[in-house]
Amino acid sequence: MIRYYISLLIVSACCSATLADQNDPAGQCMVCHKEQSAGLYNQWFSSAHALHNVTCIDCHGAEKKDADAFEHYGATIATLVTPRDCGICHPKEMEQVGGSHHARAGEILDSNDAYMAHVAGGQPVAIQGCESCHGAKMITIKNSDNRLAAETWPNSGIGRINPDGSLGACNACHTRHAFSKSQARQPEACSKCHLGPDHPQKEVYEESKHGNAYYTHIDAMNLKADRWIVGEDYYEAPTCATCHMSATTTQSLTHDVGDRISWTLRPIVSEKLANAGQKRANMQDVCRTCHSKTFIDGHYYQYDATVKLYNEKFAKPALAIMKMIENKKLLENPASFSNKVEWTFWELWHHEGRRARHGASMMGPDYTWWHGIYEVAQHFYFKYLPEALNYQDPEVTAYIDNLLTNDPMHAWLHGSTEDLKKKIKSGEMQKIYRQMFED
Ligand code: HEC
Ligand code: HEC
Ligand code: HEC
Ligand code: HEC
Ligand code: HEC
Ligand code: HEC
Ligand code: HEC
Ligand code: HEC
Repeated sequence: MIRYYISLLIVSACCSATLADQNDPAGQCMVCHKEQSAGLYNQWFSSAHALHNVTCIDCHGAEKKDADAFEHYGATIATLVTPRDCGICHPKEMEQVGGSHHARAGEILDSNDAYMAHVAGGQPVAIQGCESCHGAKMITIKNSDNRLAAETWPNSGIGRINPDGSLGACNACHTRHAFSKSQARQPEACSKCHLGPDHPQKEVYEESKHGNAYYTHIDAMNLKADRWIVGEDYYEAPTCATCHMSATTTQSLTHDVGDRISWTLRPIVSEKLANAGQKRANMQDVCRTCHSKTFIDGHYYQYDATVKLYNEKFAKPALAIMKMIENKKLLENPASFSNKVEWTFWELWHHEGRRARHGASMMGPDYTWWHGIYEVAQHFYFKYLPEALNYQDPEVTAYIDNLLTNDPMHAWLHGSTEDLKKKIKSGEMQKIYRQMFED
C-alpha cells in the first residue's frame, strides 16, 4: 500500500508538472497511455521502476540519429529498449549479459541448423520458432518513420541483434513492464526456451528432487525478498537462477549463465570448456549450501561418467560413420537433410543424446535413461547402423563390423543372454566401463 501511494505521488507530481508545462512530453506518456493501454500502464505503475521514478521516457527516449527512432507526440522515442538502454542505469548487468553465451544466441541465424529450418520448414517457422528463442536481427521498414518491420517484431529472443549493435533482450527473463527480480528467480523465467526434445531443462528440473522441493515449498521460497542469498534468505530448494546465477554467501549474482558450467552438452561430442575447473568450483559452492562435499563429488563423478559413456560408446562412432558416408559421397541426394540417415544421425545426438546429458547434469533419472540413453541405444543399433549398412560400402561395413565385434561395449550383441547375465553378476561387464569413471 505504501508503495502504491508513493507511486501515486510520482504520477501526480509529473502530471501537475505537465499541466504547468504543456511542452513536457515526458509527463504525457503516462497520462495518455493510462487511457490507451491500461494493462501496460499498470504493469509499469506497480513496478520497482515507477517506485523509483523511472518513467516511460527514461527507457524509451531516443536520439534522432538512432536507426529505430521516431517522433511520437512531441518526443523522440524508440519502441526497442535494448541492453544498452537498460545499461545506462544497470551497467554491470549489461556487461555480464553481453559477455555471456546468451548474447551470442543470434549467431545461429546463419548456421547449418537454420538452413534446415528454412528448407525443411520455411520462413514463417524460422521466425516464430528459432528466432523467437534465439533472437532476430531487427530491421525497420524502409520508407517508414523507422518503424520496426513485422518480420522481426515482436521478438524478445535471448541473443537478439539490435539496431544499436547490442545483443539480446533483458525482457527475455524480466517480463515487461514489471521487470521484477522475483519473477526472474522462478524457473518459469527460463522455461519458454529451455524445454522440449533437444534441451528439456524445465522437464528435468520438474522431475528432480530440486523441482519437487521447490513446487511443494514455493511459499517458503521468499521470492519477493529484496536480498536473495541461498541458505540465508531461503533454503528449501534451488531454482534455475539459484544454481546458474544467484548469489551465495561467497559469490555475487552473475548475469553470465556460463560462469558455473564445466562441460558443454550442446555439440555432437561433449567437451570441457575453458576454465572448467574454476567454473565447476563456482557451481559446487552453490551446492555446498545444502549438501556435503562427499555428496557433491559423488554427483559429479556419476555425471562425468554418463557424459563420457555417451561420447565414447555412441557419439564418436556415429560421427565417424557419418563423416565416412559424406566423404565417400554415398548420400542419395545432394542437399543436406534430404537423406533419411542425416535425420537419424541428427536426432541421435541433437535430441536423445542431449536429453541424456541434460538429465545426468541436473539429477533427472528419467531423462538420463528412458528419454536418454535408452533411446540413443535404440536409434543407434536399430535405425542408424542399419541405414548406414544399406549403402553396402565395404569401408563403412568393415568399420561397423569391427565396432560390433571388437569394441567390448558393443560386443554384447554377439553374446548369449546367459553368458552376459553371468558377466553382469560377476562384475566383469561393469569393468568395461571403469574408464568412464577415470579422469
Ligand atoms: C496522446 C496520447 C499519447 C501520448 C502522449 C504518448 N503516446 Fe505512446 N502511443 C499512443 C498510442 C495511441 C499508441 C499506439 C499507436 C498504434 O497503435 O499505432 C502509442 C504507441 C506507443 C509505443 C509503441 C509504438 C510502436 O509503433 O511500436 C511506444 C513505445 C509508446 N507509445 C511510448 C510512448 C512514450 C515513451 C511516450 C511519452 C514520450 C508516449 N508514448 C506518449 C498514445 C500516446
Ligand atoms: C525499464 C524500462 C521501461 C520503462 C520504464 C517503460 N518501458 Fe515500455 N518497454 C520496455 C521494453 C524493454 C519493451 C520491449 C521492447 C524490446 O523488446 O526491446 C517495452 C515495450 C513497450 C511498448 C510496446 C509493447 C507492446 O506490447 O506493444 C510500449 C507501447 C511501451 N513499452 C510503452 C511504455 C509506456 C507508455 C511506459 C510508461 C508507462 C513504458 N513503456 C515504460 C521498457 C520500458
Ligand atoms: C524453444 C526455444 C528454441 C527454439 C524454438 C530453437 N532453439 Fe536453438 N537453442 C535453444 C536453447 C535453450 C539452446 C541451448 C541449449 C543448451 O544449452 O542445452 C539452443 C541451442 C541451439 C544451438 C547450439 C548453439 C551452440 O552454441 O552450440 C543451435 C545452433 C541452435 N539452437 C539453432 C536453432 C535453430 C536453427 C532453430 C530453429 C530451427 C532453433 N535453434 C530453435 C532454444 C531454442
Ligand atoms: C537469463 C535471464 C536473465 C536475463 C537475460 C537478464 N536477467 Fe536480470 N536477473 C535475472 C535473475 C534470475 C535475477 C534475480 C537474481 C536474484 O535475485 O538472485 C536478476 C536480477 C536483476 C537485477 C537486480 C539486481 C540486484 O542486485 O538485485 C537487475 C537490476 C537486473 N537483473 C537487470 C538486468 C538487465 C539490465 C538485463 C539485460 C542487460 C538483465 N537483467 C537480463 C535474470 C536475467
Ligand atoms: C533511468 C535508470 C533506469 C533504467 C533505464 C532502467 N532501470 Fe531498472 N532500475 C532502476 C532503479 C532506480 C531501480 C530500483 C533500484 C534497484 O533495484 O537498483 C531498478 C530496478 C530494476 C530491477 C529490480 C527490480 C526489483 O524487482 O527489485 C530490474 C530487474 C531492472 N531494474 C531491470 C531493468 C531493465 C531490464 C531495464 C531496461 C529494459 C531497466 N531496468 C532500465 C533504474 C533504471
Ligand atoms: C529467450 C530464450 C531463453 C531464455 C528465456 C533463457 N535462455 Fe538460457 N539459453 C538460450 C539459448 C538460445 C542458449 C544457447 C545459446 C547458444 O548456444 O548460442 C542458452 C544457453 C544457456 C546456458 C548455457 C550457457 C553456456 O555458457 O554454455 C545456460 C546455463 C542457460 N542458458 C541458463 C538459463 C537460465 C538459468 C535462464 C533463466 C533464468 C535462461 N537460460 C533463460 C535461451 C534462453
Ligand atoms: C541444483 C542446481 C541446478 C538447477 C536447479 C538447475 N541447473 Fe542447470 N545445470 C546444473 C549443473 C550442475 C549443470 C552442469 C554443469 C557442468 O557441466 O559443469 C547444468 C547445466 C545446465 C545447462 C547447460 C547445458 C548445455 O547444453 O551445456 C543449461 C542450459 C542449464 N543447466 C539450464 C538450466 C535451467 C533452465 C534450469 C531450470 C529449469 C536449471 N538449469 C536448473 C545445475 C542446476
Ligand atoms: C537450497 C538447497 C539446495 C541446493 C543449493 C542444492 N540442492 Fe541438491 N537437494 C536439495 C534437496 C532438498 C534435495 C532432496 C533431498 C532428499 O532426497 O530428501 C536435494 C537432492 C539432491 C540430489 C539427490 C537426488 C535424488 O534423486 O536422490 C542430488 C544428486 C543433488 N541434490 C545434487 C545437488 C548439486 C550437485 C547441487 C549444486 C549444483 C545441489 N544439489 C544444490 C537441496 C539443494
